[in-house]
Amino acid sequence: MDHFAYRDGVLYAEGVRLADLAGAIGTPCYVYSRATLVEHYDRLKAAFAELSPLICFSVKACPNVHVLKVLAERGAGMDVVSGGELHRALKAGVGPERIAVAGVGKTDHEIRAALTGGAGPGESPRPVAVFNVESEPEFEVVAMAARALGVHASAALRVNPHVTAGGHAKISTATKESKFGVAIPHARALFEKFARERHLRLSGIHIHIGSSINQPAPFVEAIQRILELVDELARAGVKIETLDLGGGFGADYQTGAAPAYAEFAAAIVPLLRERVRQGLKIVMEPGRTIAASAGVLLTRVLYVKHSAGKKFIVCDAGMNTLIRPSLYDAFHFIWPASVSPQHEPPRRAADLDLPGLERADVVGPVCESGDFLAHDRLLPTVARGELMAVFTAGAYGMSMASRYNSHPLPAEVLVDAARATLIRERETFDDLTAHEQRPRDVPV
Ligand code: LLP
Repeated sequence: MDHFAYRDGVLYAEGVRLADLAGAIGTPCYVYSRATLVEHYDRLKAAFAELSPLICFSVKACPNVHVLKVLAERGAGMDVVSGGELHRALKAGVGPERIAVAGVGKTDHEIRAALTGGAGPGESPRPVAVFNVESEPEFEVVAMAARALGVHASAALRVNPHVTAGGHAKISTATKESKFGVAIPHARALFEKFARERHLRLSGIHIHIGSSINQPAPFVEAIQRILELVDELARAGVKIETLDLGGGFGADYQTGAAPAYAEFAAAIVPLLRERVRQGLKIVMEPGRTIAASAGVLLTRVLYVKHSAGKKFIVCDAGMNTLIRPSLYDAFHFIWPASVSPQHEPPRRAADLDLPGLERADVVGPVCESGDFLAHDRLLPTVARGELMAVFTAGAYGMSMASRYNSHPLPAEVLVDAARATLIRERETFDDLTAHEQRPRDVPV
């Protein structure tokens, strides 16, 4: 479900004609639909209402402060994995008591910022809601920092439940070989060792089994394993107060790919309902499932070229703008923003059965043969100057964009009904060299 739709062959984001928007601010640009963001958040919240979870949007999926604000205004907390993301969440007006901090390699500076909620000198520190720690040495460092700062914070240990799940090897995190979290037997030992630490109360468990997961089964398996650990710890006198389920629900990259939230909830809620009634707090960290459908990438066709029996549609967006196809072989539906009525796509899929389509590779401007947005895709014929929309690009699109080949980062726009707001300006060439203006000797 989203609010990007064709009317008489013309693509709209809510009430805004995307051709007009691209005309006004240029391409490439990311366009987000506020209604789509809000509907996903609200539906997820409603599906899991029985567990009253703290839903912390995973900032890494779509970190623009104005996108975060939309979700924060609905009551969302934020899941952050770096000092930069914490800064963004605080800028969006999210209080530290609604922020979960994770990340496998936190620096001392980031730890301090999370323990103080970014408080400046003279302000009283407000630690984040949950500090997810990934290892024994990290716990020791964070506990020492909490003691030094005189704050009392809560920590959850990231436990690896050894469940294989996720859309691609690069985004599955809970296998035995993964760098994330600690294995269950080690977790037991750590809880026993650290349960009585005063400044950093180790009272939670965090899991995140992977991303782009389209069935409830892996979540059920992981939660069951973790609940066994919770019970075992209870018998040993260690009470788990918070269970952070991480993120991972898939998005509708192709029509019908992602199950409804009700399906996930039907499998997950019964496992936790009674425990929540007895006081267990649930945290969720959804990213993709909220933001992916809420964004499209607009790109203009620069050239249509034929070579060695193949057709290439060369666009002004590529792996620098949206790296997911190059990095994960990810599928994004791509379609021209204006088509004849017979070419209005009835659904989003790799090969639509419509008259007059031609196979083409959609590629970007970057000097790498791995730079593509789609391979061998059936598409209507397009010409130089035509506008293309890359769908379901709201998550891990702009957030993974780079300046490779010195392309300035694209603009971002938030659409709300008939109103379009520029929420991030397109970078300029001067922005590219802004940090190269003052070379100076380093005292070494
Ligand atoms: N929590 C933790 C600890 C995570 O590591 C992640 C994502 C999330 C929550 C949010 O997961 P989501 O709900 O979005 O699946 N760049 C890849 C995705 C990497 C996900 C990394 N961790 C992609 O474009 O597919």
